[in-house]
Amino acid sequence: MAIESFQGKVAVVTGGTSGIGKALAASLIDEGATVVITGRNPETLNSVAAEIGAHGIQTDVTDAQSVQSLADQVIAEHGRVDIVVNNAGVGPLAPFSELTLEDFKWVMDTNFWGVVHGLKSFLPHLESNSGGGHVVNTLSVAALMHAPGTSAYGASKAAALALGEVIAKEYADKNVKVLNLVPALVETRINENATSRPSHGPESSKMEDFLPPLPVKDPRDVAALVITGLREGADYVFTHPQTRGPIEARAQKISEAFDRIPE
Ligand SMILES: NC(=O)c1ccc[n+]([C@@H]2O[C@H](COP(=O)([O-])OP(=O)(O)OC[C@H]3O[C@@H](n4cnc5c(N)ncnc54)[C@H](O)[C@@H]3O)[C@@H](O)[C@H]2O)c1
Repeated sequence: MAIESFQGKVAVVTGGTSGIGKALAASLIDEGATVVITGRNPETLNSVAAEIGAHGIQTDVTDAQSVQSLADQVIAEHGRVDIVVNNAGVGPLAPFSELTLEDFKWVMDTNFWGVVHGLKSFLPHLESNSGGGHVVNTLSVAALMHAPGTSAYGASKAAALALGEVIAKEYADKNVKVLNLVPALVETRINENATSRPSHGPESSKMEDFLPPLPVKDPRDVAALVITGLREGADYVFTHPQTRGPIEARAQKISEAFDRIPE
């Protein structure tokens, strides 16, 4: 299910005040969509919404009621919603031994439960549209490449990827399309925002020690890839060709395990 034109469409982008969310919101606006961005800090939210021409609604994606009132407000103010981008996320990278149970909960609450909340509150609206609707889930290659330092982050993104793939099947005949955005390194505030993880302190590991040696992409280039993906009805959008090898190597290892099953 491809999007021919974004004119007249209403899109919601969570975590839209910086990074990938902000760039994608701006691109959707350039394409003619009405865009609602969410953020938690009202000053930042208002200033970014004014800067890019979006509407801002304060939302915490970890809170089901907050996301439900976001959906209610979008419908009350705009009458419909066509594209939902579950983008808000946090990305702390540290060894498993350093991450506390609270860190895991924080990551899962945002990266996994945030997507569950978005889907629960918005899918009924998407499927009730005569022309259907689109979900974009911002995941990460950490969902498919399990490098040291990514235990909590990779697990949360793998869970969200599985969820999105199931939703794609369950809603295929309800005219709802899911696009899985699978980025690698993008120039955003993710590293500094990761310092708000519950156990972060002066002795914490440095994020940079766990980042793969890849070029850092401009979020506007990532947004352009998503727009193309939506136009083409893509299931997946990757950002770095360099991540193909490790992902294929993992799939190959899994495939070889089947060869070892005795007949
Ligand atoms: N930057 C990268 O290299 C990279 C790579 C792969 C995936 N991603 C994913 O891209 C998405 C966007 O991140 P980004 O890189 O643009 O970083 P970012 O930190 O610039 O943006 C993330 C946004 O999510 C918001 N957010 C965090 N917790 C929230 C909550 N509980 N409720 C509402 N909003 C919340 C933040 O305030 C921020 O605006 C995330 O899901 C991230 O995991 C980023």
